[in-house]
Amino acid sequence: MLNLHRLIGFVYRKVDQLSRPFIFNRQKKQILAKYPQLRPVMEAFERRYIRVQYGAHDISLMERIHRKIAQDERYIYGATPWVALLRLTEKLELRPDEVFVELGCGTGHFCFFMQQVFGIQAIGLEALNTFILNAKEIMTELSEPPYNLHFEGLQFHNLDFLHFNFSRGTLFYAAWTCFPVTLREAILDKFFKECKPGTRLLVLTHTLEDPRLELLSEVETFFSWGKDVARLYQKRE
Ligand SMILES: C[S@@+](CC[C@H](N)C(=O)[O-])C[C@H]1O[C@@H](n2cnc3c(N)ncnc32)[C@H](O)[C@@H]1O
Repeated sequence: MLNLHRLIGFVYRKVDQLSRPFIFNRQKKQILAKYPQLRPVMEAFERRYIRVQYGAHDISLMERIHRKIAQDERYIYGATPWVALLRLTEKLELRPDEVFVELGCGTGHFCFFMQQVFGIQAIGLEALNTFILNAKEIMTELSEPPYNLHFEGLQFHNLDFLHFNFSRGTLFYAAWTCFPVTLREAILDKFFKECKPGTRLLVLTHTLEDPRLELLSEVETFFSWGKDVARLYQKRE
């Protein structure tokens, strides 16, 4: 039985490893057609997470197994694909002083996207250290020749986002599909206590019915777990 499980695991990982570059290439073409300046960033992510034996899902699982939190549903990994970022951001009207905060940023690619494409501040918060170390390494690598990219305003922190001061953000993103209801409530509590009216919250899957929130828009798009809906809310005056 153990051997059968091992075999299934091996086949699953091989299929993932071999299919990742094809899926990523399709996304890369679409993204670079619109934002060619993202090539070095996308290729740095490709070197770390795509053309390697272990992708982001494996990296998340390995750290969670090591820290004995593999069964904790809060840390289940799923990615917002690069192409989904095009849909999620197409109707966002961003001010130059906008501060994007990603609650559980995973690899951090959404933060790189926001800072590099729109020139706004972006802060990625993530409980898993491997992702944060990789994001910081990508920043260092691309700040140097031949790339010389600028990353002012882009930050990554390895911390529990409930310890972050939400008053620093003006636009929050949480891919909170798998977060238990208690965690989603704790996020909302902080959002209402610490954020100014007008602050926006972009979330997936779960609808929010709260008189303190106004629904601004809804977008349906594909995520690593299938089709899902992203909703953009704003804290009322
Ligand atoms: C579904 S993944 C989404 C990753 C990324 N936002 C994306 O869309 O590609 C959720 C992430 O939130 C992180 N996470 C969950 N609870 C957290 C917490 N309290 N503090 C920081 N990160 C957390 C998990 O480790 C996981 O990487």
